[in-house]
Parts: sequence; C-alpha cells; structure tokens
Amino acid sequence: MADRILFVCLGNICRSPSAEAVLRALALARGHALTIDSAGTGDWHLGEPPYGPMQRAARARGYDLSALRARQVSAVDFERFDLILAMDADNLAHLERLRPPGSTAKLCLFTDYTEGADHVPDPYFTRDFDGCLDLIEVAARALLARLEAPRDDGQP
Ligand code: 4NP
Repeated sequence: MADRILFVCLGNICRSPSAEAVLRALALARGHALTIDSAGTGDWHLGEPPYGPMQRAARARGYDLSALRARQVSAVDFERFDLILAMDADNLAHLERLRPPGSTAKLCLFTDYTEGADHVPDPYFTRDFDGCLDLIEVAARALLARLEAPRDDGQP
C-alpha cells in the first residue's frame, strides 16, 4: 500500500506544493490516511513559502498553501516514501539519477494516473495557474481512486 507519497517538481513553490495540498484535502475528505509531502529538484527557493500567484489561485479553490516551505529532494526520500511522483520528464530524470541502488519506492510521472496529459506544465513560466490546478485535481482524484482500489499485488 502506498501510504507515503512525495510530489516533486523543480522549485517546490508551484506544482508540487499544490499537488500536496490538493491530495491532502481529497484524502482528508475521504477519510484516507496518507503521509503526503513535496520537494523540488532545485535549491533556489529553500525555506520559502509557495509562489504568491500559485497560493492565490489555490486559495480561491479552498487550498491553503501558506504553511508549506520549499525543500530539496534527497536520496533519503527514497526510503521515506513509497510513491514518488514527478511533475515532468526533467524532474523524473533527476530522480532516476538520485535513486539509491536497491530502492523499492515506486517512481513515475504524476500524469501517469491521468489520460490526456504527459506532464504538468510549469505555471511559473506559463502563468496558467488555474490550468495547473485543473490538471492536478484530475490527477489527484485518479491517484486516490487507484490507491483505494483493491489490488492483489499491493502496488499503487
Ligand atoms: P515549480 O515551478 O517547479 O512548479 O515550483 C518553478 C518555480 C520556480 C523556478 C522554477 C520552477 N525557478 O527557477 O525559480
């Protein structure tokens, strides 16, 4: 059972903290106990709260990102989490290089749980914060449904 889930993007101030907050809210509403966190592959924003425009777009949908602080992903995260979800192919490649030999954590793209998108575009550059949240909400619902579906092999 994948009870410990880490979202990873580049800066940890837009996409992954939003995904963390959205999945946390959905899981809470469904009474599904999960450990959820987020991190960035880069170190530019360590200790900072999520980006203001991202926070405002999320708050308009009822997600409060204000208490979150950016951190950088590390090899230890492969022990701390069962499922590590990258927002795009660059994040995924970084994580594949970081993954310690023998790690059993599942690593994939967040959009692997959806149809119609192969990555979560970065709103820090596209400025489409609502489009980003739309995609994250769809993918988070699909992920939670997958986690709740009984599977013989126990894989997420
Ligand atoms: P994120 O977006 O990866 O979704 O948090 C970014 C935010 C900031 C930067 C890059 C990506 N930056 O280069 O500062």
